[in-house]
Amino acid sequence: MKIIGVSASPRKNQSTYYALQQCLEEITLSAKSAGKNIEVEIVDLAGMKISGCISCDACKKDLVCSQKDDFQELIPKFADPEIAGIIIASPVYMGCMSSQAKAFIDRSVLFRRNRFMFRNKVGGAIAVGGSRNGGQELTIQAIHAGMMIHDMIIVGNDNHFGGMVWGNHPDGYKADATGITTARNLGRRMAEVALMIS
Ligand SMILES: Cc1cc2nc3c(=O)[nH]c(=O)nc-3n(C[C@H](O)[C@H](O)[C@H](O)COP(=O)(O)O)c2cc1C
Repeated sequence: MKIIGVSASPRKNQSTYYALQQCLEEITLSAKSAGKNIEVEIVDLAGMKISGCISCDACKKDLVCSQKDDFQELIPKFADPEIAGIIIASPVYMGCMSSQAKAFIDRSVLFRRNRFMFRNKVGGAIAVGGSRNGGQELTIQAIHAGMMIHDMIIVGNDNHFGGMVWGNHPDGYKADATGITTARNLGRRMAEVALMIS
């Protein structure tokens, strides 16, 4: 069993990536304490070129995409039946998700059009904003909307919506203990529900 985290910041190794790492670390620990193993992996969209969907409808016939960009390498990766869950982590841009996150979600329509391949996979979201309350909740809800359209099973951070992190914490994003705890709790819920379903 595997859970994949998508880091949808254009910046490598910054706050979004860190929050996602924390979440995945908790998945590993939670699975271990339940006597199980869940493999985790980060797909980092930073540096990848993924354009928006052009609605050519090639994917209505088969699991293919007509656009020859870096999304091509993600098609076999996300088609892996071992994947039990997907987390999308995005920075907050103008109150919502990054264009990298949106392009990834829009292009993922090919998995829906080919037998709802994400159906019943566990889904979770993380949003990192420069402000404490800069649109994290809306960003998470927008990511959840895409996951619902895939008929995924959405989980939060045990009482709210998911990982909500303050990137510009005065002592640095790693010092945002409250926010990092939400990301870790999302990981715990992801593991719990993925194991329950399996
Ligand atoms: C184009 C742009 C728009 C942004 N809009 C918001 C916003 O609406 N709300 C917010 O809290 N932060 C906003 N930010 C700040 C980022 O969310 C913040 O710096 C975040 O930590 C970046 O994630 P990263 O460190 O993984 O790159 C914006 C940043 C950029 C570049």
